[in-house]
Amino acid sequence: METTPPLADRVFETGVAMMEGLAVYLGDRLGWYRELAAAGPLTPAALADRTHTQVRYAREWCEQQAAAGFLTCDDGGGQDGDRRFGLDAEGVAVFTDTSSTDFLAPFIRLVAASAIQLPALVDAYRQGGGVSWDQLGDDARDGQADMNRPWFEQVLPGELAGVPHLHAALGRPGAAIADIGCGYGWSTIALARAYPETRVVGIDIDGPSVERARAIAAEAGVEGVEFVHSAGEDVEGGPYDVAFLFECLHDMPHPVDVLTAVRASLADGGTVVVMDEAADDELAVPADLIQRMLYGFSTLCCLPDSLSHPGSVGTGTVIRRETVERYAHDAGFTGVTDVPIENFGFWRFYELR
Ligand SMILES: C[S@@+](CC[C@H](N)C(=O)[O-])C[C@H]1O[C@@H](n2cnc3c(N)ncnc32)[C@H](O)[C@@H]1O
Repeated sequence: METTPPLADRVFETGVAMMEGLAVYLGDRLGWYRELAAAGPLTPAALADRTHTQVRYAREWCEQQAAAGFLTCDDGGGQDGDRRFGLDAEGVAVFTDTSSTDFLAPFIRLVAASAIQLPALVDAYRQGGGVSWDQLGDDARDGQADMNRPWFEQVLPGELAGVPHLHAALGRPGAAIADIGCGYGWSTIALARAYPETRVVGIDIDGPSVERARAIAAEAGVEGVEFVHSAGEDVEGGPYDVAFLFECLHDMPHPVDVLTAVRASLADGGTVVVMDEAADDELAVPADLIQRMLYGFSTLCCLPDSLSHPGSVGTGTVIRRETVERYAHDAGFTGVTDVPIENFGFWRFYELR
């Protein structure tokens, strides 16, 4: 009997996984997971009714999700229309819980943002240029923000409290903190909540992100934060005691210009903390899942975004330690050390001195 070559198996599985991922996008954007978490288990008819969507599609999606192992299914006595589908506790966390570090619906949203732009990506790969963050749109913005939010809200404050000199600098009454490339500002808000006697300024070049950050902070009644629509190359509002760049240095078309401006915006004794991807020091073949994920985002999202700007250095998501050190050196910093924050998702923290 003929056996299927392993590579063919893998590519076949990849195709199925792509379809299952895109179906997760549908359930996320249609509110189906959230409804199942709130009121499930439900029949497809009840799910469609409660979410004002189409019952025939709801039934197919529920069956597909159960077949994939994402939804539970009780057979309701065996009649198609009576089957009830739901989420178990793990499913609730993975598909709906904005406070859980297991919340992965936004990861799929971010991937889908690139999938929607595949014709533009083909053009960019052929002719040069790129696909900007703005072009990737709200799926990318929302996906990015929701994916990192639980890490900033649940994990970051405790980790910073474990780094005595940073904790002291951040906690000094009247200290000023910058959060460059803040996106929807979940990190800015987490810092303001953890260090209520400081002023925290979120800065981002993307106008819609800054508007959303302001709305989120206002809705949550967070004090001590402000958001500025500006390029990191023109940092405003200093001098800063601590400046953070959370998962954005690798996106910046001109990272050395940004780091140079951030350095100039520091108060005496001020410091810069960069959180970026925990990329291996060199290409491993084959690589582990995290490195493959970083390359996935690099090929589909971060590199095309960066290259959409004229003169971009084109860093890509796989930003290696050597690259961070080189950018820091070129921006006038004298050294880069690891901040002892470990087991923080797939990121690494650097301090630039
Ligand atoms: C991958 S997102 C990270 C957002 C947020 N820090 C987080 O961790 O969720 C990168 C962000 O950097 C911003 N950005 C890119 N280049 C920038 C620049 N030159 N100045 C300021 N922000 C920039 C983008 O608009 C985007 O919001």
